[in-house]
Amino acid sequence: MERDGAVAFDNLFPMPLLKKLRRSVMSRHDAGELRERGLVRDIAGRYAAVLPFEGPFLAPEFYANHKLIEILGALMGTSHCIGSLEAVIAMPGAYRQHQHVDAPLRFDRAIGKTKKGFQGDLSDLPPYAVTLCVPLCDVGEANGPTAIWPGSHRTALRARPTGEREILQTFPEEHMVGGFGRWVLFDFRVFHCGMPNLAAEPRPVLMFVFTRSWFRDPNLADVFPSVVITKRNLKRIPDRYRYLFMLAPAARRSLWENKRKRNRHEQD
Ligand SMILES: [Fe+2]
Repeated sequence: MERDGAVAFDNLFPMPLLKKLRRSVMSRHDAGELRERGLVRDIAGRYAAVLPFEGPFLAPEFYANHKLIEILGALMGTSHCIGSLEAVIAMPGAYRQHQHVDAPLRFDRAIGKTKKGFQGDLSDLPPYAVTLCVPLCDVGEANGPTAIWPGSHRTALRARPTGEREILQTFPEEHMVGGFGRWVLFDFRVFHCGMPNLAAEPRPVLMFVFTRSWFRDPNLADVFPSVVITKRNLKRIPDRYRYLFMLAPAARRSLWENKRKRNRHEQD
């Protein structure tokens, strides 16, 4: 991760679990429910929709996979949480996305009434957000792999932003292809883009984002909540993993008094 800003492995999740996740996503997609109810964003012919933590997504082997938790601890320390869980469905005909990083960070400084991003070089920062990309099908050149430029994450936070031409000239382009079961972890700063889906079938992937607890993903600024879980399901999460869900509204305690008491008070 330090050298390339991305790493790919096979077999993080057991295949029976992956198949259940795929069934759940595709049945919601086929019913139109995912597009209709999922706090949708459209990206170059693909749509991204927030998924609730329910059904197979409540399996601890998924959200608190022990290998994953160890990796996250090594990359972001003990204070991290789930930023979002989305399905991204690249429909047949989805076209090439522009090259981008998911969220550069400039630590705005407010001096008097002026707010400005920090002007210096922040290239040496450790990761503040990572995406676990879990394809729910085989991914080949034809059905819209993600292209990445390994190593480019170290240029994203230079004082002067890096241009597309420099990235193309400096770093090799790699396409994340592989069989069902392969997954890729990205630093938010690595340059990447989605390639066209030339196949006849939609290409579903999960984008599972983890961030340091102080970071908020600007891509989801108008999507609330980005972590969806009911109070009842949150209670089913073992105590030791509940910190992962700190951004879910269900994780908040009510302030001072509950609504019924407040209403009674207003009537008095
Ligand atoms: Fe992206």
